[in-house]
Amino acid sequence: MFIDTHAHYDDEAFDIDREEVLKKVHDGGTECIINAAQDYKTSLTCVEMAEKYPFMYAAVGVHPHEAEKASLKDLELIEELAKHEKVVAIGEAGLDYHYNFSSEQEQKRIFAANIEISKRVGKPIVVHDREAHSDVLDMMRDADIKPGGAVVHCFSGSAEMAKIVASKGWFFSVGGAVTFKNARRIIEALAVIPDELLMLETDCPYMTPVPFRGRRNDSSYIEYTARKIAEIKGISYEMLCEMTNANARNFFAI
Ligand code: NI
Repeated sequence: MFIDTHAHYDDEAFDIDREEVLKKVHDGGTECIINAAQDYKTSLTCVEMAEKYPFMYAAVGVHPHEAEKASLKDLELIEELAKHEKVVAIGEAGLDYHYNFSSEQEQKRIFAANIEISKRVGKPIVVHDREAHSDVLDMMRDADIKPGGAVVHCFSGSAEMAKIVASKGWFFSVGGAVTFKNARRIIEALAVIPDELLMLETDCPYMTPVPFRGRRNDSSYIEYTARKIAEIKGISYEMLCEMTNANARNFFAI
């Protein structure tokens, strides 16, 4: 039924029942899951999970929170891992000026390194942008990422930013935030996001959609996100799922 293009099933929130949850969501209609890493260690875990479950794929890379801790060796190992057949993207990588767990300078250095890996291995980059819109855009433009070479996950930019991202042929993924009360900005952005660049995600265990906000998220809740976007776009839920699935298969080459 749908593809969850951004999840974190390696998170400790799933330690007690990971097997059961994955069986439940797969049996319930989640065709594929892309599990995104935070650092070298979780990149390895993501690849192991992708080897274990045929419906899972991995993104490997360094999250901006972990930028300061990542060594040159980590990046080399991630690049090697990125060549694995179940690795379909690099990430998540980007800039996060909300938490600033690493300095802006370190975050930029590591984001640039992730983009370079993505280009060298020929797999797209999953971009994390939190309160860093203009720097993220500048770096993506400077790196001259090709159409289809990036997705801005959990898109939180303005309609103006969405137009620029779309003009470059970069993708968008939208999650539970679209169901929140304060979703005005993402709803405005959705109006200018081309159908062929839109994908769905959970970012689970975080970002659970309304009416379950606050609970642990998993891929089954993507239905509420999909229904909300279908309503905003004035198309059927089935059509929205079909469209975003085709986009995800195209983007991740799965
Ligand atoms: Ni994430």
